[in-house]
Amino acid sequence: MEDKILQNEHLSYILNELGENHEDYFNAIAPPIVQTSNFLFSTVEDMRHAFSHEYDVYIYSRGNNPTVEILKQKLAALDNAEDCLVVNSGSSAVFNSVLPFVKAGAHIVSVKNPYSWAKKLFDDFLPKFRVTTTYIDGTDILNFERAIQPGTSIIYLESPNSWMFEIQDLKAVSALAKSKNITTIIDNSYCTPLFQKPLDFGIDIAIQSATKYIGGHSDVLGGVICSSKENIRKIFNSEYNTAGNGCTPFNAWLLLRGLRTLPARLKQVNDNTSAFILGLESLDIVEKIIFPFHPSFPQYALAKEQMQGACGLLTIIVKEEYAPYIEQLCNHLKAFKMAVSWGGYESLIIPKIAALNKNNIDFKNEEHRSIRIYVGLESPDYLLNDLKQAVEKAKE
Ligand SMILES: Cc1ncc(COP(=O)(O)O)c(C=O)c1O
Repeated sequence: MEDKILQNEHLSYILNELGENHEDYFNAIAPPIVQTSNFLFSTVEDMRHAFSHEYDVYIYSRGNNPTVEILKQKLAALDNAEDCLVVNSGSSAVFNSVLPFVKAGAHIVSVKNPYSWAKKLFDDFLPKFRVTTTYIDGTDILNFERAIQPGTSIIYLESPNSWMFEIQDLKAVSALAKSKNITTIIDNSYCTPLFQKPLDFGIDIAIQSATKYIGGHSDVLGGVICSSKENIRKIFNSEYNTAGNGCTPFNAWLLLRGLRTLPARLKQVNDNTSAFILGLESLDIVEKIIFPFHPSFPQYALAKEQMQGACGLLTIIVKEEYAPYIEQLCNHLKAFKMAVSWGGYESLIIPKIAALNKNNIDFKNEEHRSIRIYVGLESPDYLLNDLKQAVEKAKE
């Protein structure tokens, strides 16, 4: 089934043709990096027309740029969206998509553990404008219903949620939000639009950190906002141009290059992750594997219904007796790199204890024994053997 998702005529057309007019740039196969800040006009009338159609023309690269435009068209099509904006990080995608849909005193309902900088936006920045946020367990639609207030203007989702991968029922949440005129925003970085198309479930705005799978090589930051023309125009005319954090032409070019191989990389990551998980199951230190497509996952049925793939991010809970070895185990890894982020070619690991004050670590708490793993493009045996040798060294 994933093969059809990752290889079909429509996808090939989007990735190889859409938005690319080779005659405009000497019939070069690879689009140029149009490295310019501004664009000239031959007549006053042309300039006048451009000033009144800023959203649709090239005036200044903070707004629109031809290299970025090619990327925008492809990303919008992947999400079945009318339009798209590309910004210079995933965090910026959160900022730019949330801000236009709140006014002073508004209220947001958010899943309880959104990406850390989204949480910072809700907890530290928006309260300056009396915008408050209620965090809920998003696995139950009743919690959304209970949390909505008369001033609620946004429901903020992240499905699956990073680290523990809780899932929200996108169809149910979007139906509820529509009935109350609330804008729904989802962080879809985990799945990418290849494995989950939130707009098809009625969600209003789908964002992603393009730094992850779209870039795919851990060498560029980017963010994507996909929605209706009306919403994208609203964002363009306010936060996008005011904050001036649109994607640069060079970064758009790198993201375009990454996008060409996205299906091939996702296939490899998917296959590797399945094989890696099989190997993990026989590893003595592992108490639990948390992964949306693992049959033990509490929301397995919903995951299978909503998502076409689960990619490379998973979490393991180490058995309590082995928990004191976690730090040494991570220090001894060689193939796995200890680093934040994910979605690149390289496999990564973060132990929860790295984010905890040493005095507060309590191994009775399952979360403190968790390690987030990203499986990249390497052979699963290479990764499993690395883990095994690190376990042995840690026990010495
Ligand atoms: C789920 C999720 N959303 C958003 C972001 C932010 O993306 P960026 O690092 O591109 O700003 C991250 C980054 O790790 C993330 O994991």
